Amino acid sequence: MRGERLGLRGLQPHLALVRGHGKSPGMKLAFFASHRGSNMQAVMDACKEGRLQTEPCVVISNNSDAEALQRAEREGFPHYHLSTKTHPEPEQLDVAILQALERHKAEWVILAGYMRKLGPKTLAHYRGRILNIHPALLPKYGGKGMYGTHVHEAVIAAGEKETGVTIHLVDDEYDHGAIVAQCRVPVRDEDTPTTLAERVLACEHRFLVETLQRIQTGELKP
Ligand code: GRF
Repeated sequence: MRGERLGLRGLQPHLALVRGHGKSPGMKLAFFASHRGSNMQAVMDACKEGRLQTEPCVVISNNSDAEALQRAEREGFPHYHLSTKTHPEPEQLDVAILQALERHKAEWVILAGYMRKLGPKTLAHYRGRILNIHPALLPKYGGKGMYGTHVHEAVIAAGEKETGVTIHLVDDEYDHGAIVAQCRVPVRDEDTPTTLAERVLACEHRFLVETLQRIQTGELKP
């Protein structure tokens, strides 16, 4: 397994960096991402630049080609491809995911563009400490099939004047758990799903960092 080989080797340079800033490491974050991983990158950048006192500790993807895994490699974080390809039985996969999280002492789990549901063991272990970011104002425009451009197409088709970003706790239904924080984004008359997606994504990057910071300081208690 590619990430296994990296093991702690990938983690140490980052710890050194945090120490170098003279700040104590904050809460340890595990990221799950299936594709691009730009939200995860926004958090990693904020941590590196000292704008956010959290500590990414492991990245997991169900997609071995995910750009998110390449980003993790580049940034020096342990990363794993864990999917039905590596673990065909759902229960095995759930256990492997939980073991990876525990191995790297993850305290919070951030689903940032993860296109799978977590298994019952992982959900139970991290209940109340798993967040998902969604590119709309839930409970509208969420649920199965509401991902990527489909969300923005539906928002425009419905004639909405505003959309936004939702960060919520994760349960066993897609886009369903308690809402932790939301921010609004205007929909313009001339918007296409592409232009709207860009505006919402830029907001996601800022808002995820800001929300994690509020959780880290205790200002926001999910
Ligand atoms: C984001 O729009 C997020 O809200 C949704 O999936 C997308 C992931 O984008 N859940 P990225 O992989 O973080 O670039």
